[in-house]
Amino acid sequence: MPIRILVAGAGGQLGSVLVRELRRGGHEVAALTRAALDVTRREQVLERVAKLRPQAVVNATVFGVEESEDDPKTALAVNAFAVRTLAEACESSDATFLHFSSDFVFDGTATAPYRETDRPNPGSVYGATKLLGELYAQVVPRHFVLRVESLFGIRDGKSTIDRMCVDIRAGRTVSAYYDRTVSPAFVDDVAAATRRLIEGKAPSGVYHCVNAGFTTWHELAMELGRQIGSPSQVVPVSADGLTSKVFRPKFAALSNEKLANLGIELPAWQSAVGRALAAPLPSATPVPGSGIRPAPRS
Ligand SMILES: NC(=O)c1ccc[n+]([C@@H]2O[C@H](COP(=O)([O-])OP(=O)(O)OC[C@H]3O[C@@H](n4cnc5c(N)ncnc54)[C@H](OP(=O)(O)O)[C@@H]3O)[C@@H](O)[C@H]2O)c1
Repeated sequence: MPIRILVAGAGGQLGSVLVRELRRGGHEVAALTRAALDVTRREQVLERVAKLRPQAVVNATVFGVEESEDDPKTALAVNAFAVRTLAEACESSDATFLHFSSDFVFDGTATAPYRETDRPNPGSVYGATKLLGELYAQVVPRHFVLRVESLFGIRDGKSTIDRMCVDIRAGRTVSAYYDRTVSPAFVDDVAAATRRLIEGKAPSGVYHCVNAGFTTWHELAMELGRQIGSPSQVVPVSADGLTSKVFRPKFAALSNEKLANLGIELPAWQSAVGRALAAPLPSATPVPGSGIRPAPRS
């Protein structure tokens, strides 16, 4: 059965891929960019959700890592209070709420991949506001909070991994940290997992939605080089001397076992890289617009 789904932040990296995946799955999707729905405008959100009466709301909006450090007030507004509003709207409409979070809720001191039961301890404004957003999302009776990290395969060259691919393909030298560990997430796999959660009967909760396994940025860049066919241009560097205004977790690997135990398996990151490199470029980002009609009142 097609599901009526509202996607907020539909013009973003993840949002635009999600819209494509959900529409491909036969669902009726209202793909709302910031111009169509500013999630920080409470009345607008409540009114829009009440009018469209979606069965599921997906929040792919975010105020970014660096920007949050510079402007904590907006970070709170977008990453936390807007989530509270969306949650309130979902509760009133009896809709499922699917919200995205981040590995930045952890402090990066672990030595094994973080599980959903591990205690968050954010070290940045971004991480703290994302954690608050997670808490607000969880008041909705049917909710999913998906923590993702290091998204790739977006093909606009904006993400770190996609930029590395562009550089390696162009024969440019790539410097990559050998002392930072991540679990990369292929955006197509995240979108497919999101669709399955919305369609299925999984219990509400927080889920780590990344490809299986983990790697240092250096190993990752080497693998990209191998798969692209030019492994020699990757230089290992340390993140230790890095001067950055933002705290970034050193060990940010996430275990995706909880999702896998539900039968939603995100394959190993190496195979995801292969699929991302082989994927054809999309002809265009889906045109955002209100693809769903207001539901008839029952
Ligand atoms: N990318 C990653 O590697 C990564 C890593 C960890 C977690 N995540 C999580 O994944 C989710 C999606 O991230 P992303 O990388 O796709 O982000 P993105 O590309 O920056 O997209 C975010 C979207 O949110 C929109 N937005 C910002 N403020 C808004 C507002 N007030 N009202 C409505 N829309 C607003 C932006 O619109 P404008 O373009 O108009 O600003 C943008 O289209 C977020 O929850 C993020 O925390 C991503």
